[in-house]
Amino acid sequence: MDFVVRLENVCKEIEGRQILKGISFNVPKGKIFSIIGGSGSGKTSITKLIVGLWKPTKGKVYLFGEDLSALTFGELDSLRKRIGYVFQEGALFDSLKVWENVGFYYLEHTNKKPKEIREIALEKLRLVNLDESVLDLMPSELSGGMKKRVAIARAMATEPDLIIYDEPTSGLDPITSRVIDRLVLELNRKTGITAVVVTHDMISAFSISDRVILIRKGEIVVEGTPEEVLNYESPFVQEFIGEMKDCLTGMKGLRYD
Ligand SMILES: Nc1ncnc2c1ncn2[C@@H]1O[C@H](COP(=O)(O)OP(=O)(O)O)[C@@H](O)[C@H]1O
Ligand SMILES: [Mg+2]
Repeated sequence: MDFVVRLENVCKEIEGRQILKGISFNVPKGKIFSIIGGSGSGKTSITKLIVGLWKPTKGKVYLFGEDLSALTFGELDSLRKRIGYVFQEGALFDSLKVWENVGFYYLEHTNKKPKEIREIALEKLRLVNLDESVLDLMPSELSGGMKKRVAIARAMATEPDLIIYDEPTSGLDPITSRVIDRLVLELNRKTGITAVVVTHDMISAFSISDRVILIRKGEIVVEGTPEEVLNYESPFVQEFIGEMKDCLTGMKGLRYD
């Protein structure tokens, strides 16, 4: 099995506090892998380790088969270019138009002409089911759901091999959240891109993921397919899933794909 991300017994300590305590998992190529857990459980911290922004206090992180601790800064930088990151708040540049946001990498790092970058931006916007009518809009003119789409289009702009979504449905109403879920799934199925999704939205995690880990206070409580996690017999897991369980079990046959 080909793994895009692999964590081996990763610990992270900051200012004497253990934020992550022995995290191990593999993200298989082409799959959607979700990290679920409550606020402050360590989800975003895991993504910082995956992209090499943080170094583990203990343990190893492998990205595209490379041991991050063995890389030079330049090597790490080129691996990072293969990752698209959708930030927790969407984080569009407010003073830039939609096409400039989506084409930001090309504006900053290449000599491509604006016309060409607009073309690339449009192609990526089409991937997230938007069209040319949004190219010249400012972020403030977009709805929450559209902002997320634009953020996803921007993450896809460099044709990454891995996309990391940090809380893609946070701050969205339930209907828009399901639309974004579908989009995450559709992009994965259409392009084969591997996805790591960080979320506390259980409906989202259970309806789109191939595999899920549930973390609490920096530790993995359970890992498995959505069905395995739903049926895992542990008071914490059952409590975490809580009232959602009936709804989630009912959704089994309704998986989007
Ligand atoms: N830069 C930091 N310095 C100190 N503590 C941090 C830092 N980033 C995160 N933490 C702490 O680590 C824990 C996990 O945070 P985080 O990974 O952001 O959680 P989540 O994304 O699951 O909400 C929290 O207790 C948080 O306060
Ligand atoms: Mg977070």
